[in-house]
Amino acid sequence: MFLTKLEDAKMGYTYDDVLLVPGPSRVEPIGVNVESSLTRHIKLNIPVVSSPMDTVSESEMAIALARLGGIGIIHRNNKKEVQVEMIKRVKREEALIIKDLYTVSPDTSIHDAIKLMREKRIAGLPVILDNKLVGILTNRDIRFLKGNAQKVMDVMTKQVITGNINLSMEQALDIMNQKKIEKLPLVDGSGNLVGLITAKDILKREQDPLAVRDEEGKLLVGGAIGAFDLERAKALQDAGADVIVVDSAHGHNLNLIDSVKKLRKVIDIDIIAGNIATSQAAEDLISAEVDGLRTGVGPGSICTTRIVAGIGVPQLTAVAQVAEMAERHGIPVIADGGIRYSGDIVKAIAAGASSVMLGSLLAGTDEAPGTEINISGRRYKTYRGMGSLGAVMGGESDRYGKLGSGKFVPEGVEGAVPYKGKVADTVFQLIGGVKSGMGYTGSPTIAKLRENARFVIVTQAGIMESHPHNVMLLSEPPNYTNRNF
Ligand code: XMP
Repeated sequence: MFLTKLEDAKMGYTYDDVLLVPGPSRVEPIGVNVESSLTRHIKLNIPVVSSPMDTVSESEMAIALARLGGIGIIHRNNKKEVQVEMIKRVKREEALIIKDLYTVSPDTSIHDAIKLMREKRIAGLPVILDNKLVGILTNRDIRFLKGNAQKVMDVMTKQVITGNINLSMEQALDIMNQKKIEKLPLVDGSGNLVGLITAKDILKREQDPLAVRDEEGKLLVGGAIGAFDLERAKALQDAGADVIVVDSAHGHNLNLIDSVKKLRKVIDIDIIAGNIATSQAAEDLISAEVDGLRTGVGPGSICTTRIVAGIGVPQLTAVAQVAEMAERHGIPVIADGGIRYSGDIVKAIAAGASSVMLGSLLAGTDEAPGTEINISGRRYKTYRGMGSLGAVMGGESDRYGKLGSGKFVPEGVEGAVPYKGKVADTVFQLIGGVKSGMGYTGSPTIAKLRENARFVIVTQAGIMESHPHNVMLLSEPPNYTNRNF
């Protein structure tokens, strides 16, 4: 617990203040297991979460991260309807069973059917009459068609192989293999069309063995809400979000905690709340029955809260304090902000976090929504704090309390980060570093890493020794830069 009196104040540490001490190990990095928990009920295959920021997390980032085994939290600096659509896009991306089907009837004209297929970029349309499946129209049926004046019933495939709605993925794939078909319509006991499975979707799954999915096979995704926005929370839940993140710069605001208690009563999915930096805040939020805690007040690359308001706790100490309390209640902690290198992720987990939330490390990737810019021949992407002037004045967020009158005291900056290509490449390097750290500490699992961690405090000289020194860097490896933007 931090005491207010100056003479009682304790030392707070952050990533650069410490290193992890290597220990006896038979663990090879290649064999470690990096599965972890985001919340009480949500497991991740890699401990990486994207920050709900408007230059980091929209559908594309969330889809990519969920495929890699992490999760994206869609930002809220937009109208509720826009955020809902972003969540829906993620949920639609890889639904094993497509339930919102586009269909045609037997007397739809071929012209209209082809138009629908082109517009929606789909290769096959079930043909239904009174909700009963009577045929299927695929690219094969129309490939050699001359003119398109005919009706669907004239060219559709009438002998349709169907599956029962309760088929497992393996059974569906077996049928498709045997019958050499790419699409398997699913029907209920009365022959009503209830869904469609495509071989493409099943095979896509095999390409992403680590992807995190819900019980319907859809990718996991989270959505952020303002502290008092119960309506948005309900809309996100209805859209299919798997977790709600109550997104505030001050998660120990007692009014926010009251609101979280109300939210708990109307929301069935997991709730993460934050941001906090003390064990008392953790305890108070846990009493509101949250399922995960987001830790970090002021460590972010674009944050100025500590400078503007004089408030914050160095991040490693904040994580350790929150995690110590959270662990007693079985609540996972997210270390949010200030992560610059993969080694920082290892330190955050060793200090008690179950996952890390990333902003700047992801903002330069293709999947981030920021704008690409060119400065002196080098490629960058824009990245801004959600409490920056641009984000607050241009969006819907109230994270840093927009004051009436059009005036506002920013707690963040707007900038740019180097362009980095695919997020999968960045995540590969980050997780590679985590696995390496687990090897050095003899930790086959994330839980063991927390248990085995032994920190040593380093001096400024130690930090200088840690970075490359006495050498002119001729090229930058993909996992290291010493440029201080
Ligand atoms: P990184 O270091 O990963 O940090 O870029 C991302 C985290 O920073 C927080 N955040 C802010 N903090 N002012 C702040 O004080 C801001 O404008 C701001 N915007 C984001 C947030 O926790 C995010 O995940």
